Amino acid sequence: MSDRIHTLSGYFHEYQKSVAQPEEFWARIADSFHWKKRWDKVLDWNFEEPDVKWFVNAKLNITENILERHLYTIGDRPAIIWEPNDPSEAGRTLTYRELHTEVCKFSNVLQEKGIKKGDRVIIYMPMIPEAAVAMLACARIGAVHSVVFAGFSSSSLADRIEDCKAKAVLTSDGNFRGSKKIAVKAVVDEALEKVTVDTVIVYQRTHQEVSMKSGRDFWWHELVEGVSEQHEAVETDSEDMLFILYTSGSTGKPKGVVHTVGGYMVYTKYSFENVFQYTPGDVYWCTADVGWITGHSYIVYGPLLAGATTLMFEGVPTFPDAGRFWSVVEKHKVNQFYTAPTAIRALQAHGTEPIEPYDLSSLKVLGSVGEPINEEAWNWYHTHVGKSRCPIVDTWWQTETGGILVSPIAGITPTKPAYATLPLPGIQLCIVDAEGNELKGNSVEGNLCIKFPWPSMIRTTYGDHERCKQTYFSTYKDMYFTGDGVKRDHDGYYRILGRVDDVINVSGHRMGTAEVENAINEHPLVVESAVVGYPHEVKGQGIYAYVICDMKNRTEENLTNEIKDTVSKIIGPIAKPDKIQIVSGLPKTRSGKIMRRILRKVAEGTVDNLGDTSTLLDPEVVQEIIEGRQ
Ligand code: PRX
Repeated sequence: MSDRIHTLSGYFHEYQKSVAQPEEFWARIADSFHWKKRWDKVLDWNFEEPDVKWFVNAKLNITENILERHLYTIGDRPAIIWEPNDPSEAGRTLTYRELHTEVCKFSNVLQEKGIKKGDRVIIYMPMIPEAAVAMLACARIGAVHSVVFAGFSSSSLADRIEDCKAKAVLTSDGNFRGSKKIAVKAVVDEALEKVTVDTVIVYQRTHQEVSMKSGRDFWWHELVEGVSEQHEAVETDSEDMLFILYTSGSTGKPKGVVHTVGGYMVYTKYSFENVFQYTPGDVYWCTADVGWITGHSYIVYGPLLAGATTLMFEGVPTFPDAGRFWSVVEKHKVNQFYTAPTAIRALQAHGTEPIEPYDLSSLKVLGSVGEPINEEAWNWYHTHVGKSRCPIVDTWWQTETGGILVSPIAGITPTKPAYATLPLPGIQLCIVDAEGNELKGNSVEGNLCIKFPWPSMIRTTYGDHERCKQTYFSTYKDMYFTGDGVKRDHDGYYRILGRVDDVINVSGHRMGTAEVENAINEHPLVVESAVVGYPHEVKGQGIYAYVICDMKNRTEENLTNEIKDTVSKIIGPIAKPDKIQIVSGLPKTRSGKIMRRILRKVAEGTVDNLGDTSTLLDPEVVQEIIEGRQ
C-alpha cells in the first residue's frame, strides 16, 4: 500500500515525480509485484511506428500476482461476490483460495484441449464468476483472451472469431437478463456456421436446451470434474499479449485493441487503488459487463491484483424493480460503487422513491465512467445516492488506454460536477488545436492528446499495426490522439466534451457511424444511409439514421422496423437506431462528401443556424430533411 496517495499535496508530488523521472517512478510501482525475472529496462518507446515496450524482457505471470500472491495472506477473503440476476436465487462467493482452485482447474482443462501460449480464445459469456475464471485461466496459460459482449449478434461474433483466428470459444447455454432468458449457445452455433474453431466449452447457466456438436462442444462441468487443482503458471514476457478487445472506430469494422501483460498489470492495480481509495476489507462494485474494457480493468484485473473484493452482478438496474442497485448495495454493504451516467439517468427518471427503502450508509465512493456525465445527473447521484457525503470520481479513459487516465483521487481531489478533474500520475496530457499546436495554459479548448507513454496503453491493433498507427499516432506528430474534445478551465481542470470523430457514444457504448451505416445498407431496399449521434436524455447520445430507400409498397413504419431488425441482427440490439428518417437525398458537397454537420444539427433540432450550405450539390434536400425531422 506504499504506492497510495493520501493527500492532495501527495498527489501533486507523485505527479511531478512521474513526469520528471517516469522510469524511476514506474519501476518503484512495479517493484511491488511478483516478477519471475526483473526487467532490463523500464521503457523503450517511439510514437512514430508506434513501438512501446514497458518492463523490457521481464518475465511474469499476471495470475500469480492475483492468486499465489494472495493465497497465504488473504486466501479466505472474498475475491468475487456474485449477485445473480434474480434476487431470489442464491448468490455465490469465491475466496481467493477458491478462485485459485477454479482457475488452476480450468487452466488444466484448456491445456488438455490443446490450447497453448499465444493461442486466441473467445469468451462469450454472461456475468458469472466463470467469465472471470475463463479470463484468468487464459492468462495463466499464456493464451490471449478476447471477450465479446454477450449481447453482440452472431455475425459480430463471427467477425471477431475470424479476425483473431480463435482456437476456442468459451460460452454458456443461455443468459438471464431481467425477465428474459436469452439463448447464447445458439448464437455461437450460428456464428460457427460461418467460421470454425476447434473447441467450444459451454457453461450450464440456464439449463435450456442446446445443441452440442460432438468432438467440438463440451460441457464445462464435465471437463472440470476430477481435473487437478494444481497448475503451474506459464511464464510470459512483459510484452506478450494479454488480451484483445474489439472496439469501434470511425471507419470500417471494429478493431482489436491489444494489451500486453506487464504494463497493464502495473497500471490497473495502481489506478484502481488510488482512484477508488480502496482499503482492505472494502466491497467494491463496478456494474459494467466483462465484455467491455471497464469490466476487464475494474471488475477483474485491477481489483483482483489489489486483493480486493469485487462484486459481479449478472442482472440489470431495473429488475425486478428500479431499486435493484440499491438493494444490492445494502445487501453486500458495498463501499465503492462504479457505474455509467446512462444508468444514473435511467434511474433518475424513476425518482428517489426506489432508493428510500435501502440503507446506503456503507457507500464511501461513487464512480462514473463511459461518457460525459451531465451536471444534473452528477448532482442527483451525489445528493440521492451519495447523500452528499461520498466523493464522485468521474473517470475518463478508453479501451485503448487500458486504465483510468483522468480522474479525481476519491476524497482527495476537490471535484466539480462534470469534470474528470486532473490526470493520474504518469499521464502527460496535451491539448492541441486542429493543426496540432499545443494549447498551453488554462482556459483552453481543443483535442485531447497524450505525449508520453503510460504502462497500460494500446500496443497495436490485432493483425493490422498500420491501422493503429493511422488511427492514433498519425493525426498529430509524436502524440497519441484520443478522439475526444476537451476543455481545460481556469483551474487547470479537465472537462471531456465528447468525441470529435465519427464515433458516437450510446449508453456509454462506442459505436462507429460507418459501422451502423454498413449494417443499415444490408437491408435490400436501402440505397444509402448516413448516421449521426444526437443528444438523448437517458442514453447520452442516440442513433439517428437518414436513409434513402426504395419503399416497394411498404409503409414507413414497416420499413423502419425492418431496418432496425437488420441492424440488430448484424451488430446487436445496442446498435439499433433510435430514429430513422426516410429521405430522398442526402446533403452532399460537389465532391460527393456527405455534410454530416448539417445532419447532426437537424438531428439535434438546431436548424436555424445550419451554416454555409452553398457548396451543396442539391441545397433543396436540406429543407426536405428539416421538414421530415423525427
Ligand atoms: O468519449 C470518451 C468516452 O468514452 C470513450 C471511450 O469509450 P470506450 O473505449 O468504450 O471506453 C469506455 C470506458 C472506459 C472516450 O473516448 N468516455 C469515457 N469515459 C468518459 C468519457 N467521456 C466523458 N467522461 C468520461 N468520464
